[in-house]
Amino acid sequence: MAEPLLQVRDLEVGFATAQGEARAVRGLGFELEAGQTLGIVGESGSGKSQTALALLGLQARQARIGGSVRFEGRELLGLGEREWNKVRGNRIGLVFQDPMTSLNPYLSIGAQMAEVLVQHRGLGQAAALAECARMLDAVRIADAAARLRQYPHEFSGGMRQRVLIASALLCRPSLLIADEPTTALDVTVQAEILALLRQLQEDLGLALLLISHDLDVVAEVCERVLVMYAGRAVESGAAARLLTAPRHPYTAGLLASRPRLDAPLGEPLRPIPGQPPDPARLPSGCAFRPRCPAALPVCASEVPALRTLEAGRACACHAPLPG
Ligand SMILES: Nc1ncnc2c1ncn2[C@@H]1O[C@H](COP(=O)(O)OP(=O)(O)O)[C@@H](O)[C@H]1O
Ligand SMILES: [Mg+2]
Repeated sequence: MAEPLLQVRDLEVGFATAQGEARAVRGLGFELEAGQTLGIVGESGSGKSQTALALLGLQARQARIGGSVRFEGRELLGLGEREWNKVRGNRIGLVFQDPMTSLNPYLSIGAQMAEVLVQHRGLGQAAALAECARMLDAVRIADAAARLRQYPHEFSGGMRQRVLIASALLCRPSLLIADEPTTALDVTVQAEILALLRQLQEDLGLALLLISHDLDVVAEVCERVLVMYAGRAVESGAAARLLTAPRHPYTAGLLASRPRLDAPLGEPLRPIPGQPPDPARLPSGCAFRPRCPAALPVCASEVPALRTLEAGRACACHAPLPG
C-alpha cells in the first residue's frame, strides 16, 4: 500500500529543566491520508502545540526531538532550515490561535499575503495579488481586491482569521495544520470559521490536522479524533464513536466536563478533578491515574500500552470502559 501523506511515529519532544527532562510529547504516533481530517484534543499542557510545532520544524531551539515524521514520502525531522522552508507554508499550511499577533499591523493585507507567493512560487507582484484576491474570495471575504489594500486593524477578529486561513492555503498545501484556530473568537464566529474549514477541506481535498482543547470543535470538523494526555495518545477513533462511547476514562471525563447547550436544565458540569501533571514530574504508571475514577493497583506501576480495541479504535488503559 502507498505511504500515507503524513506518518508520525514515536514522536518525542523534551526540554531539559532543573527538575529533569520535561517530556512534552511522548511516543506519539498517527497517520493522515491525503484529504483526511484528524482532530487532536486534550487539556491545556497536553502537548498539542508542541506536536504541531515539531511537525513544522518550529520547536524551540533547546528542544530535544525524537522519532519520525514522514510527509509526502520523506523524513522531515532533521531537515536543514532551507529544506524546511520549502515544506513549511508551501506543502504544509499553518493557522494559529491568535489572528491579531500573526499579522503585521504595518503592512496591508495584500502586501503580507503576496509576499508568500513571491517567496515560495516566484510570482510577480501583480500575479501574486490576483492570486491573493482569488483566495480571499475562497474564504468568503467580499470585495477582495479592495480588502487587499486594507490593514489588519480594519478587519474583525473573524475576518483576520479568514485572512490567515487564506494565507495558509495560498501555495496550495496538501496539509493544513490549525492549532486552536477558533479559541480567540466568539461562539458565532467560531461556528462560521469551523464551517469554512470544513468546506475548504472538502473543496480543495486538503488533509486537515485540527488541534483544540474542545472536543466539540474537533468533532464538528474531523472524521477521526486523537485524545492526548500528558504528551501521549490515550485514545483514538472515529469522532462520532468517541463522543457517544468513550473507552478511556479521560475521554469520558472530557465529555462530562464540557458545557452543553442541549443539556437538561440544572444538570451540573462535572469537571475532571485535579490538574494535568507537570511533564518534568510524571507519576509512575499511567499519567492519568491520580485523577482517574477507575484506577486499579496496576495503573500505578505499569504504563498502559495503546492497544487496538476494535477496528479504527485504540485506547491506552488497563481497564477501558465498555464499548
Ligand atoms: N521551552 C519549554 N521548556 C519546558 N517546558 C516546555 C517548554 N515549552 C513547552 N513546555 C511544556 O510542554 C507541555 C506541552 O505544552 P503545549 O504543547 O503547548 O500544550 P497544549 O498545546 O496541549 O496546551 C507543557 O507542559 C509546557 O509547559
Ligand atoms: Mg496549545
